[in-house]
Amino acid sequence: MKAAEIRQTFLKFFESKGHQIVASSPVVPGDDPTLLFTNAGMNQFKDVFLGFDKRAYSRATTSQKCIRAGGKHNDLDNVGYTARHHTFFEMLGNFSFGDYFKHDAISFAWELLTEHFHLPAEKLWVTVYAEDDEAYDIWNKVVGVPAERIVRIGDNKGGRYMSDNFWMMGDTGPCGPCTEIFFDHGPEVAGGPPGSPDEDGDRYIEIWNNVFMQFNRTEDGVMHRLPKPSVDTGMGLERLAAVLQHVHSNYSIDTFVALLEAAKKAVDEAGALNCDAESASLKVIADHIRACSFTIVDGIIPGNEGRGYVLRRIARRAIRHGYKLGARTPFFHKIVGELVTQMGDAYPELRQAQTRVTEVLKQEEERFFQTIANGMEILEAALAKGDAQIDGETAFKLHDTYGFPVDLTADVCRERGVTVDQAGFDAAMTRQREQARAAGKFKMTQGLEYKGAATTFHGYDHLVCETSKVTAVYIDGQWVNEAKAGDDAVVVLDHTPFYAESGGQAGDSGELRNASTRFAVEDTMKIQADVFGHTGRVLEGAIKVGDSFSARVNAEARAKTVRNHSATHLMHKALREVLGAHVQQKGSQVTTDRTRFDFAHNAPVTTEEIRKVEALVNAEILANAAARADVMNLDDAQKSGAMMLFGEKYGETVRVLSIGSSKELCGGTHVKASGDIGLFKIVAESGVAAGIRRVEALTGDNALAYLQGLEDTVHAVAGTLKAAPNELEQRVQAVLEQLRTVEKDLAAAKSKLASAQGDELLSQAVDIKGVKVLAATLIGADAKTLRETMDKLKDKLKSAAIVLAAVDGDKVQLAAGVTADSTGKVKAGELVNFVAQQVGGKGGGKPDLAMAGGTNPAALPAALAGVQAWVTERL
Ligand code: ALA
Repeated sequence: MKAAEIRQTFLKFFESKGHQIVASSPVVPGDDPTLLFTNAGMNQFKDVFLGFDKRAYSRATTSQKCIRAGGKHNDLDNVGYTARHHTFFEMLGNFSFGDYFKHDAISFAWELLTEHFHLPAEKLWVTVYAEDDEAYDIWNKVVGVPAERIVRIGDNKGGRYMSDNFWMMGDTGPCGPCTEIFFDHGPEVAGGPPGSPDEDGDRYIEIWNNVFMQFNRTEDGVMHRLPKPSVDTGMGLERLAAVLQHVHSNYSIDTFVALLEAAKKAVDEAGALNCDAESASLKVIADHIRACSFTIVDGIIPGNEGRGYVLRRIARRAIRHGYKLGARTPFFHKIVGELVTQMGDAYPELRQAQTRVTEVLKQEEERFFQTIANGMEILEAALAKGDAQIDGETAFKLHDTYGFPVDLTADVCRERGVTVDQAGFDAAMTRQREQARAAGKFKMTQGLEYKGAATTFHGYDHLVCETSKVTAVYIDGQWVNEAKAGDDAVVVLDHTPFYAESGGQAGDSGELRNASTRFAVEDTMKIQADVFGHTGRVLEGAIKVGDSFSARVNAEARAKTVRNHSATHLMHKALREVLGAHVQQKGSQVTTDRTRFDFAHNAPVTTEEIRKVEALVNAEILANAAARADVMNLDDAQKSGAMMLFGEKYGETVRVLSIGSSKELCGGTHVKASGDIGLFKIVAESGVAAGIRRVEALTGDNALAYLQGLEDTVHAVAGTLKAAPNELEQRVQAVLEQLRTVEKDLAAAKSKLASAQGDELLSQAVDIKGVKVLAATLIGADAKTLRETMDKLKDKLKSAAIVLAAVDGDKVQLAAGVTADSTGKVKAGELVNFVAQQVGGKGGGKPDLAMAGGTNPAALPAALAGVQAWVTERL
């Protein structure tokens, strides 16, 4: 049975048992910052299990795309070393949300395996959680599995509920005891039954896990009972396919056979010629193409942090394995086509993204192939020393200079039985970060020691605080008692309306003043999470700790910034609508002048797409919806569908900012209603890195000034061309047309002039042993005229060796021609180079016609004068 049929049979079976077939969720969980990648079928139902979300059904079944390459469930290091581990796999699952429980779950599983997939009962083993007598009894008494094939597994992983038979999604979330079903691949395969010392072999393979969801584990480690006991199951499609296709390795199933063939072909074409089809490296490549492709489908691109770095690590690991087999040029992206053939029907989103996926991988490969050879040389040299461990400095150098993720280095080392000094690597990494920080842009607030009270921020609602007390003053990074007129200083206040730079929004400017003193605030930055440093200069008087000030934000500048910030949210939303959900924020900078927004997208944003985004944002502005900020706990925010950024650390309570149709977690300051933005205009679009685009936009008066500037340009050009603005295009066309006609006339005149000169030149040719030798300059000729004149002269002189030259500014054009009867003695290529070398150039061509250029017109007359002697020598 092919993998595709197995998938179908599974889903149809559970459909016949009243389950709703639900599509796989993306491998990138959009709304769950606790998860790096989707690691189980239950992820998309997490909130249903927890009782936060309700569905129209209480039974569901899915075939879920899963990635286990980081986080709690990580199989990356096993790939290529076992017959059954993958970074990407498909999990078949059935789910009960407070509907059936242990009895039905176990009965369904048994019926499907033995009656529909026809697995022999005596080859199936089961494990249950040691304390779960109920599950034990169902297996033993209801289903009839003999006691010797039921294994009880307790807390075998070093803590309460830490067990192979107690499943947790992550450190928090739904969990519960489970029962696992194993298939015995037979005595010819090494390995022991579950619970035995050699259970890690490939003989007894876990194929299906049935979890009885009963608890929600919170961060404090407490297990809270779920509102209703539920069922979550997961069966690895690849493992079941191996069983049903009578093979012992997942890599021998139909899908992988096809991928392995495609991988071999691509690697061979890239220089491996004929690599070993059984090589573990090919398996790694076939596995990794799936993980890489499906993550890219969901909007991730290779990068240096978060999910992007996981993707880069997997891709580079695959590339290194190809390199090991002999590939020397990009090959990995070429396997995407076969993957689409194998899996594009089950997952149409893959087929749809094929071009983008291929392109992203190709770029990553091109990049890594630039450094891999040198990196491998360094690593080989280090390995050649014969030490049992590669030192951290070498691993760091490979990482830093050659783009070798440390686990890639470890992967190479492991093949030679060598380890990597991880602690040494970490130390080198920390040192570099510190150096970078020290060398980075000097910020007045950086590294300041502060121990006083925190700053309370009032700037969401107020732009003035009348009695802000100074809690610290710094000059040149040092705490001081007082800053006097003329001093540049950092001032910390107990209460402030000034927004401190964070979340991409620039800090506020403004003024602190009291009866005797004025301090110009140029910027505001955080010294600690809730300690705000106001940086600027004392204009009058002096500032001391304990002084009280009226703190006033520059309202006009703030208004500009909030317009830009709110517009950024609307633009983010609109970009996702226009370009697709893969658009993920990669960076943003909001200032008084403009908003700059970086995001994942693999092609330039077209003018048409930009127009659509502008239209959507301006429509939201016209709708003039009120903006709202709600402070709520993170769970509620997630449930509300608010956009959040992966990799951001959010506290327990978060601020959800809603404007129009956009809802985002944001600590920034915003407009009161979308209409305050006034006008929105995108002014630039560019690429900042592979797969990352940048748009810059203006709002309000800035946008107006920009449009007025364009209008001024149009008027100025119209004035010059003496046309009304609306006739401008027509007028420019007419002028260009005129220019083309003039150019044509000029070319004709030049050629006429040249041929007239050509006739004159005939008489200058000198007869040497029956060959006419001529070297002359044509005035106003270009390369084409030189060639045409050459042809004519050759025709007329019959037997000749000719050099023609033309000068244009400091450039020399040369042509040499030799008639066919003389090319045996004189070669046009040599002749033209004889002259070209003397005028600072070189050239070449055929024996009868050659062209060259030069850069020294002053030397031309002498060079031409030498032609006659040069030719004479050869005749
Ligand atoms: N969620 C369970 C697992 O992943 C079924 O094993």
